[in-house]
Order: sequence, then C-alpha cells, then structure tokens
Amino acid sequence: MKKIAVLTSGGDSPGMNAAIRAVVRRGLSLNMEVYGIYHGYTGLMNGHIELMTAGSVGDIIHRGGTMLYTARSLEFKTEEGQQRGIEQLKANGIEGLVVIGGDGSFRGAQKLAQKGFPTIGIPGTIDNDIPGTDFTLGFDTAVNTVIDAIDKIRDTATSHERTYVVEVMGRHRGDIALWSGLSGGAESILTPEVDYDIEDIVKRLMEGHHRGKKHSIIIIAEGVCPASEIGKIIEEKSGLETRVTVLGHVQRGGSPSAFDRMLGSRLGAKAVDLLLAGEAGKMVGISKNEITAVDFDDVFNGKLPVDTEMYEISKSLSI
Ligand code: ADP
Ligand code: F6P
Repeated sequence: MKKIAVLTSGGDSPGMNAAIRAVVRRGLSLNMEVYGIYHGYTGLMNGHIELMTAGSVGDIIHRGGTMLYTARSLEFKTEEGQQRGIEQLKANGIEGLVVIGGDGSFRGAQKLAQKGFPTIGIPGTIDNDIPGTDFTLGFDTAVNTVIDAIDKIRDTATSHERTYVVEVMGRHRGDIALWSGLSGGAESILTPEVDYDIEDIVKRLMEGHHRGKKHSIIIIAEGVCPASEIGKIIEEKSGLETRVTVLGHVQRGGSPSAFDRMLGSRLGAKAVDLLLAGEAGKMVGISKNEITAVDFDDVFNGKLPVDTEMYEISKSLSI
C-alpha cells in the first residue's frame, strides 16, 4: 500500500489532531503518500482531498478540534454516496482510508470495507461510548474540562451555600458524569446506566447540610433527563436554594490532555501499520494500555461495561 488517506467525521473531540498528525507522519515514515480529506464523508464524496506533508500537520498536536474539519452527511448513508466516495478515492490512487470518529462514522467505514475498500477506524468522541476500547479519544480532556468547571462552581456554591445540579454531555452514556463526578467530589452522580432514587439523593443532601456542608454538587448525564427537571425537584424537596448549570459544548473543545495526545498518537500509528499489513474493517482501540484491533462487527455488537465499583466508591466518599 503506497497511498492512504485520513478523515474526521461526526462530533469532533480533543486529540483528533494528534491522531491526524500520527497517521500522516507514520505514513510518511513508511514511504507512503498520505492525503487529508476535508469535511468528513461530505468532502470525500466531493473530492476535497489534498496531499499532506510533514509540515501540513505541524503545530497541531496541542490544538482541540480537527484541522480537517468534520461533517455529518445523510447522503453518505446511501449506496450512491458510498460509491461516489470510493470513486473519488480511486481517482486519486488512494488504497486505504483511516476514519476518525464515532460509531456512526464506523458504520460508514464498514460499508466501504464491505465494498472492498480497506478502512480502519480510530474512536474519536468525548462520550467514551464505543465498545472494544477502554477509552475514546477526547474523553479524558472532556473530563478534565468538567472538573475544572466543577472546581469553579464549588467556589460560588460554597459562598452562597447552594446546591448545584451540573449537566454534562455523553449522549446515552454516563462515563463523563461518573468520572468527573468522582474526581470532582460530587455528592451524587446520575447516569443512564444506573437507576437513581431521588428521595435518597435528597436525604443524603439534607444529612450533609445538617452536618454543616456548605454546598452540594450533583452531576447529571444529559442522557438521564434535563438537569432543570432534577434541579426543580431537589429544590422543592430539600428547601435548599438550587441552581442548574448546563456545561454544553465547552466540553468538546480545548487543548487535548497528555493522555489524549498519547492515545491519538498511538492509535494513529497503529491504524497505518494495520493498513500496511493488509488489515481492513477494524477499529484500533486501547485495552489495559495495549493498543488493539477489533472487527467493526464486534464493535457494533459489543456491550459497554458498567463500572459499579466506581459508583460504590463515589457514594462512600461523598458523605
Ligand atoms: P459519530 O461518528 O460521532 O457517531 P454520526 O452518527 O453523526 O457521528 O455519524 C457520522 C457520519 O457517518 C454520518 O453523518 C454519516 O455520513 C456516516 N454514517 C452514519 N451511519 C451510517 C451508516 N449506517 N451507513 C453509512 N454511513 C453512515
Ligand atoms: O457525541 C459527542 C456529543 O458532544 C455528545 O456528547 C452530544 O450529545 C452531542 O455530541 C452534541 O451534538 P451536536 O454537536 O450536534 O450538538
């Protein structure tokens, strides 16, 4: 394989640039030509493809977002769209493609692989919601962004002796809430994976208040329900002044953490090695700090673990 390409697709995440850089530079070091495809599958279908040099990916390892831009394309979900994509790749002499994105982007990549065009996926999303990898690219940075916000909210919460309900992202997954809640010292953590008991949450809140706690912080994953609903119930039941903060897209941006730069670099290099070895239709991931390759089918059929131990620890530490 002499010519490969890389694109980013779906929601961006910090660390995507580190992965793009790794794909380009690993490819160059293996004497390949590496192309960047701009605007995800939309750019692929429209032939927005450019030859990359080592310099094209200079000065990006520390930047959030994606230098290749990203997109969501309905057209690429059709046979015709996928065929147009393959034609563009072939017209440029490209023989393999690395797709950095989430579950949806991998479905597109799998379609290309099933049509005989080799693809490898790199899990890039802040949600940490992809089976077959312990971590997705951007999750660690998003958690750090959230705990930075919690630390700030804690200051004003203490000054006013208030309760705060903080809503974090994660789509249907609660990992951002669980990790940031535990590392941010939240009193309660609500996620879609574990049923919650509002009476118990209020009881714990009141116990803390009576013991002299100056504030309480409750983290809720967006996949549970709007934070405003929980905030209203808690204020009514506890009688304590409660505020709601929805952190939103700040969680998607910012300079990637050292962990995400490492992960992006390792996954990017491995993706190129796999293409060179003739592999296709796989996602690269990390398991117990080893870089792995998992069939897309196993990713789509895989189950995400629920870390009950983390919930237990969080409960016992937030008394
Ligand atoms: P993510 O990759 O973050 O999960 P999306 O679900 O929005 O984001 O998917 C990104 C893009 O991948 C979609 O806009 C579409 O172009 C492509 N895609 C998603 N699902 C499929 C599918 N079943 N077949 C082909 N392409 C798909
Ligand atoms: O998948 C990443 C994510 O940020 C989710 O956490 C969130 O639900 C969604 O994307 C938001 O999507 P959009 O950028 O389209 O508002």
